[in-house]
Amino acid sequence: MIRAFDAFSLPVLRWLDPEDAHRLAIQGLRFLPPVKPRPDDPKLAVRAFGLNFPNPIGMAAGFDKSAEVPDALLRLGFGFVEIGSVTPKPQAGNPRPRLFRLERDEAVINRMGFNNDGAEAVLRRLAARAANGGIVGVNVGANKDSPDRVSDYVKLIETFAPVASYFTVNVSSPNTPGLRNLQEGALLDELLGRVIDARERVRQKAGDTPVLLKIAPDLSLAQLDDVVQVARSRKVDGMIVSNTTIARPSTLREEMRAKEQGGLSGRPLFRLSTRMVAETYVRVEGAFPLIGVGGVDSGGAALTKIRAGASLIQLYSSLVYKGLGLVDEIKRDLTSTLLRTGRDSLSEIVGADAATLTAEDWPGM
Ligand SMILES: Cc1cc2nc3c(=O)[nH]c(=O)nc-3n(C[C@H](O)[C@H](O)[C@H](O)COP(=O)(O)O)c2cc1C
Repeated sequence: MIRAFDAFSLPVLRWLDPEDAHRLAIQGLRFLPPVKPRPDDPKLAVRAFGLNFPNPIGMAAGFDKSAEVPDALLRLGFGFVEIGSVTPKPQAGNPRPRLFRLERDEAVINRMGFNNDGAEAVLRRLAARAANGGIVGVNVGANKDSPDRVSDYVKLIETFAPVASYFTVNVSSPNTPGLRNLQEGALLDELLGRVIDARERVRQKAGDTPVLLKIAPDLSLAQLDDVVQVARSRKVDGMIVSNTTIARPSTLREEMRAKEQGGLSGRPLFRLSTRMVAETYVRVEGAFPLIGVGGVDSGGAALTKIRAGASLIQLYSSLVYKGLGLVDEIKRDLTSTLLRTGRDSLSEIVGADAATLTAEDWPGM
């Protein structure tokens, strides 16, 4: 059914303005029949951050910013869904156009600017579906006009802890001016300290909700040293590597579109973000697991990310070009690789190539 849906919808959606297409896709998913997905091969199961993931493929943040369709996405076969970024107050985001397809590069540039319905509406939706189960993470961000951004994150942790499978502290979106400064050592230390404190405060009623940190691929290795050191000392439960890049590789073919301001994602982000997974993995030394995201568009790409150090994968941009059938395709490829190589689980190969990758020349961007 998904294939038929893709065959019909992909050409139509690609013909529309990208943001209209996205809205239509969300509306379409709302009407997805409530059929149970095929159960995943047990070999694809991953245990990380104290959670049991049925398979390692997640929907990345930014597709379902306001938690309108998490259950439909889970039914499509994702092992987990990350909603958000959510901010305390509703926010309109930047003026349109703010989402661009780079067709020939199989890439996307966005400068959405955290458009979302705000904490109150999103909490209502998540509370209404909480009994359905499944792993639904909540990605939190700060309002653009907030006088105290750290307090925004704290407020969101306290608000969402009862309904979040995990939290992602997003300090890496390029479209809220100054947000990425929160990745700087002392500021990050204060932010994570207060976020972890907030999680402890609500532990009684909400349990132990894992807190992950999502970083930009544009950090220097010296900055990454600091970020990982702070993340380890504040005892976060994991990191997500990476968000979109503000770099523009010289290889991009859609030269006019490439000039648009915003974060670049999709295929041209793959090498840089995978290198950053490997660089993070060798610095983390097994202290916590990583989620690898950026340009995953096939089973092979997912496997490369895992071998670079990712225990779990997320994707977004490739769905624009390949359709929702991609999720099943990647899962099938991963299962057959496990079968072919006689392994019982993906955990056996997490990070297998990290050391080799970090010794290679830096990926040209
Ligand atoms: C349109 C769009 C909106 C996004 N919004 C968010 C967001 O709100 N919060 C966030 O942490 N990441 C956001 N992202 C980044 C993705 O979660 C992901 O990190 C990035 O796109 C790289 O993955 P991909 O190459 O598979 O798309 C967004 C990406 C796109 C394309």
